[in-house]
Amino acid sequence: MKLTAEQIQDNWNKFLSIIDEHISEPRCSELKSFYELYAERIMLMPASHKKEYHNAFPGGYVDHVLRVVQCALKLHQVWKEMGVDTSAYTFDELVFAALNHDLGKMGDEENESYLPQDDQWRKDKLGEDYKFNNQLEYMSVPDRSLYLLMSHDIVFSKNEMLAIKLHDGLYDDANKPYLMSYLPETKPRTALVHIIHQADLMAARIEFEQEWNAKLKNGTTQNKSLNFTIEKNKKAPIKTKALGNIKSEGLKSLLDNI
Ligand SMILES: [Fe+2]
Repeated sequence: MKLTAEQIQDNWNKFLSIIDEHISEPRCSELKSFYELYAERIMLMPASHKKEYHNAFPGGYVDHVLRVVQCALKLHQVWKEMGVDTSAYTFDELVFAALNHDLGKMGDEENESYLPQDDQWRKDKLGEDYKFNNQLEYMSVPDRSLYLLMSHDIVFSKNEMLAIKLHDGLYDDANKPYLMSYLPETKPRTALVHIIHQADLMAARIEFEQEWNAKLKNGTTQNKSLNFTIEKNKKAPIKTKALGNIKSEGLKSLLDNI
C-alpha cells in the first residue's frame, strides 16, 4: 500500500486536529509544539520496517496512529455499553494514550529508528524497505514513548502511563506481572489498558489485511522471506523436499510411513 503526498499531508492535518479537539490545555499546546518540532520525520515515517508487519511505507506511522485513535473511540463505546466503568479514566486519557502509544518508534532526538534499506537483497527477498538505525540505543517502543514525553515536559497520568506501557498486551512477556495478576487489588484499576491494546491489535490487523488479503485470495502472494510462491489449494510437497538428500533407502521408507 502507498499513500500519495496529499494523503500524507491530510493525515498529518487530521493528527493535529485530534490533539486540538480532544486534548485539553496545557498539554494540547505542549503536544502540538512537540509534534511540530519533529513534523517532517513523523509525518513520513513507516509504522514498521517490513512489509510482512504493518504499514511499512512512507506515512504509515501516522496512518496507523489515526486508526488506533478511531478504534479506541469505538472500543471505549463498546466496553461502556457492555457495562465496564469507563468513568475510571477520562476521555482525554483515552485519546492521549492512543495518540502517543507508538511514539517511541520515531527514535530519539538525533537518530530516527527506521532508515531506508540500502541492501537490495533484503528489500527484494525479505520485504524490508527499511532497516533499524544501529546508532540508536536500545529501548522498547513503549518505554521510549514515555521517555520522549517525559523529556519534553509533557506530563502524563498513571492511567496513560500504564496504557502506553502495556499496549502490546501479553505479546510482550514483560507485561505479564501487570496483566496476569490473580489478586483483585493488584489488577489494572481501569479497562483503559485493555482498550488501547485492543485498538492497536485491531488497527494492525486491518492494516495487515489491506496489504495482504487480495494477494492471499488470488494466490499470487510471493512470500519472499521463504522464496516460494503460495499457490491456492496446493499442498507443498514437504516430505519429498525433506527426503531429497537422504541416501539411505531404509531411512527413506521409514520416513515415508510417517
Ligand atoms: Fe501501534
